[in-house]
Amino acid sequence: MYYPDDVIEEVRARNDIVDVISQYVTLKKKGANYFGLCPFHNEKSPSFSVSPGKQMYYCFGCGAGGNVITFIMEYENYSFGEALKYLADRAGITLPEAEDSKEARAQRDLKNTLLEINRLAANYFYYQLKQPQGRPGYEYLKNRRLTDETITHFGLGFANKTPDDLYRYMRSKGYDDSILKETGLFFIEERGARDKFWNRVMFPILDVNNRVIGFGGRVMGDGEPKYLNSPETKLFDKSRNLFGLNFARKSREKYLLICEGYMDVIAMHQAGFTNAVASLGTAFTAQHALLLKRYTDQAVLTYDSDGAGIRAALRAIPILKEAGISAKVLNMKPYKDPDEFIKNLGREEFQKRIDEAVNSFLFEISVIRSEYNMQDPESKTGFYNAVAKKLLEFPEKLERDNYTEAVAREYMIPAEDLKRLVNSLGERGGFALRTPEQERPKKKKEKDDGVRKSQRLLLTWLIEEPKLFETIRGIITPEDFTDELYKRAAGLVFDEYEKNGSIEPARVLNHFIEGDEQYREAAALFNARLDESLSNEEQRKAFSETIKKIKRFSLEERSKKASDIRELQEIIRQKSELNNLQLTLE
Ligand code: CTP
Ligand code: MN
Repeated sequence: MYYPDDVIEEVRARNDIVDVISQYVTLKKKGANYFGLCPFHNEKSPSFSVSPGKQMYYCFGCGAGGNVITFIMEYENYSFGEALKYLADRAGITLPEAEDSKEARAQRDLKNTLLEINRLAANYFYYQLKQPQGRPGYEYLKNRRLTDETITHFGLGFANKTPDDLYRYMRSKGYDDSILKETGLFFIEERGARDKFWNRVMFPILDVNNRVIGFGGRVMGDGEPKYLNSPETKLFDKSRNLFGLNFARKSREKYLLICEGYMDVIAMHQAGFTNAVASLGTAFTAQHALLLKRYTDQAVLTYDSDGAGIRAALRAIPILKEAGISAKVLNMKPYKDPDEFIKNLGREEFQKRIDEAVNSFLFEISVIRSEYNMQDPESKTGFYNAVAKKLLEFPEKLERDNYTEAVAREYMIPAEDLKRLVNSLGERGGFALRTPEQERPKKKKEKDDGVRKSQRLLLTWLIEEPKLFETIRGIITPEDFTDELYKRAAGLVFDEYEKNGSIEPARVLNHFIEGDEQYREAAALFNARLDESLSNEEQRKAFSETIKKIKRFSLEERSKKASDIRELQEIIRQKSELNNLQLTLE
């Protein structure tokens, strides 16, 4: 272990989970637990629960779950070591020095090592840019009118023309191929190793905590591909990171600017618009929206003015809306993108365009409008119908009426006529005009058979009512659980009860964080849904059924594997005992 178990446990125990999660999520008390909107998936009604008793969180919608340490890991995208450090600081605990060789550390905390390598690579590229061999890169950036401050601020760099420059540098620093492979910065084959990036200007991609998680590299001038990006790695999840967000989150503006590319973000920041971010060559995703929602509920889309940019905006608008972010769209014409616009017209003009940005709905209408010929009566009618249909997307009458009036004004349609058209279309179609269906949380695919469900129920039961241990003593042991994870979790829970007479599930979870990070699965074992509507008698029956089901299955599995007759006889004896079993529950 990186840190001794008792150190980890002290850090966990001294950070109350309700306090910590309240810093990030608005929680409301409901019975013994707290509920809020899950920060790990998109939802409108709260299915994210935090239990002060168990010191765990669990989302009934998406299955995210764990203890206070894993929450910080997931929310901040921290490694285990970083989360522990953060929580130790928060509680005023000084962590002992973690003594480790480079190899041992690489084994234990792959993510930390990858971060270390990325940081070194970024420094290396930055250093090269200022060397004689980096001159073409430096001049390219200067030609694009970036100042030295901007270059330093974004840590821009240069990858040399030599095809294995960075690789040799990393080897000289003591990193071996197995770890270098994971960085996405190299092609490592039997014949030899090459750098992925060479003869390009380099853009380090930082996450919200200023850690280098990947790179983009641009050819200087024309050439294909124009941009080359790091592949997804253990650090770099393209749908969960936005270029520039590390700075933009600190900007004081109430809204964020969303654009398409590296140079656009950099040009905007240089011009003082430090609230700009980009989704970097991938489409804008629901996860991106969720990430932005932490900082703002307003966005201005500054996508390219070409067809691709318009399509990208049309795709992003509903995603933002779904996450509760209202969007406006900036008119970039006659320029292609923010970089060109600012170069040509300057920051004041750009600010004006921000102030004039149109509401995303009116933008969608204007795109529809461009598909119709208003000189042709039939086409014009088609446009009106399309508008009316679009207006029906607002389920609330008041909001729908407001938008109907705004569209009517803009396109000089008599408002009453448009309203009538909307209403008649609504009635005929029968689709909108009623509130949208109560959204239900997306159910995880539960391919589980009933036995595993019973096992989860039992573990949850035992945690909530440890005295049930006495009831199952001599009947169920950890060996009766099916897969490895269940066995291990049950083993830890049983041990803990034997030692302390009670169970702290959040402490048990500590064992599932490092290594294969199975804490989500383990958290699910301690958060099965117990049916609270059952009467005592019904509960007793349900409990007893659960025990029998688990034991029966376990005996069957054992009899399949049994190799000698005496073992089989013993199983048969236990089976008949089970049939006559009367559990004594108080
Ligand atoms: N992009 C990419 N790979 C490419 C082309 C584009 O990943 N081959 C991504 C980059 O993040 C780029 C963004 O898509 O910044 C927008 O592409 P584009 O509009 O073509 O480039 P610009 O941002 O305008 O870049 P530049 O000004 O340097 O030409
Ligand atoms: Mn550009």
